[in-house]
Amino acid sequence: MILRVNLPMDSYDIILERGCLKNAKDLLNLNRKCLIVTDSGVPEKYAQLVASQCFAPTLVTIEQGEKSKNIDNWKLLLETMLRNDFTRTDCVVAVGGGVVGDLTGFVAASFMRGVDFYNIPTTLLSQVDSSVGGKVAVDLCSVKNTVGAFYQPKRVLIDPDVLSTLPSRHVSSGLAESLKMALTSDAELFEIFRSGTALQNVDLVIERSLKIKISVVEQDERESGLRKILNFGHTLGHGIETYDELSGLHHGECVGLGMLPMCSDEIRGDVEAALKALNLPTKIEGDIEEMMNLVAHDKKCDGGNISFITVEKIGSFEIRKLPLEDWKNIVRSRI
Ligand SMILES: NC(=O)c1ccc[n+]([C@@H]2O[C@H](COP(=O)([O-])OP(=O)(O)OC[C@H]3O[C@@H](n4cnc5c(N)ncnc54)[C@H](O)[C@@H]3O)[C@@H](O)[C@H]2O)c1
Repeated sequence: MILRVNLPMDSYDIILERGCLKNAKDLLNLNRKCLIVTDSGVPEKYAQLVASQCFAPTLVTIEQGEKSKNIDNWKLLLETMLRNDFTRTDCVVAVGGGVVGDLTGFVAASFMRGVDFYNIPTTLLSQVDSSVGGKVAVDLCSVKNTVGAFYQPKRVLIDPDVLSTLPSRHVSSGLAESLKMALTSDAELFEIFRSGTALQNVDLVIERSLKIKISVVEQDERESGLRKILNFGHTLGHGIETYDELSGLHHGECVGLGMLPMCSDEIRGDVEAALKALNLPTKIEGDIEEMMNLVAHDKKCDGGNISFITVEKIGSFEIRKLPLEDWKNIVRSRI
């Protein structure tokens, strides 16, 4: 299946097809120098399969984990391209999750003011969310996505077969992002979650999530309005994630917890059941006041006001901006 992302300047296709990794050379222009970037947690066979189809591959494996999304690796990859005489007509390929995709995309955006970028996402989160939309970045001093750009990929290859090796906790974490999109935008997709069959229908879940993401990005490429709905659950979620850094909740787990108080009383029970069906946590453990204070440092908090998304009815949303204290009161009253 081909899904088109229509943008004023840089439209592109997403290929969603089981086994498409094997046909990368027919789907991408790999007949040139290709920098392929993967990480140590992604089974080697995926990047090697891509490399074997390139005319002149240079394969770099970074350490797995968020800490690798940094300026040092960005510099290392650019230097590797320079040393290997890459030019503006060569390309960069990400084979990995959101960490590899965000870092590699920013390398592609920066080298000689931009070379072709292909994204081959291998986690569920990156397949349904981060590989599409052109947000590329690295973290600075552990502050997430501080340095980056909007830089669209030339093409995205999504092969759900690679999810067979993804640990189930990462699968659930990725599904939390799909659940997020269902809640704001697609009541039918939510029915799949409600029935507890998201895993059995993962191809359909990926397709419907991508359609939501594409529609949002097409309407608001630079996040000046509608794209904020993709942050549903992320405001409190980031507070939980920062507070909980040491005990290591996954991003999707924090987003799931962050969504709950942003749902109306009417739907919260259904959302909680959907999270449980995905083996995602539903109770916030720890000092909620401290977590909410951490949100004050978040970039969504501006001049004492905070922007956030609420869902009163499944498949719809409200973009809201309130003084921080009012937002805290909403959270306090709903947990
Ligand atoms: N650009 C965007 O729009 C956007 C949106 C959401 C999140 N993000 C970013 O995405 C990142 C998180 O991405 P993620 O959840 O994919 O994490 P990740 O990239 O760290 O991948 C999670 C783990 O899974 C391993 N892995 C990847 N593919 C695998 C496979 N097929 N089989 C087995 N193991 C595999 C990785 O080695 C890693 O250890 C964060 O940095 C976040 O900021 C970006």
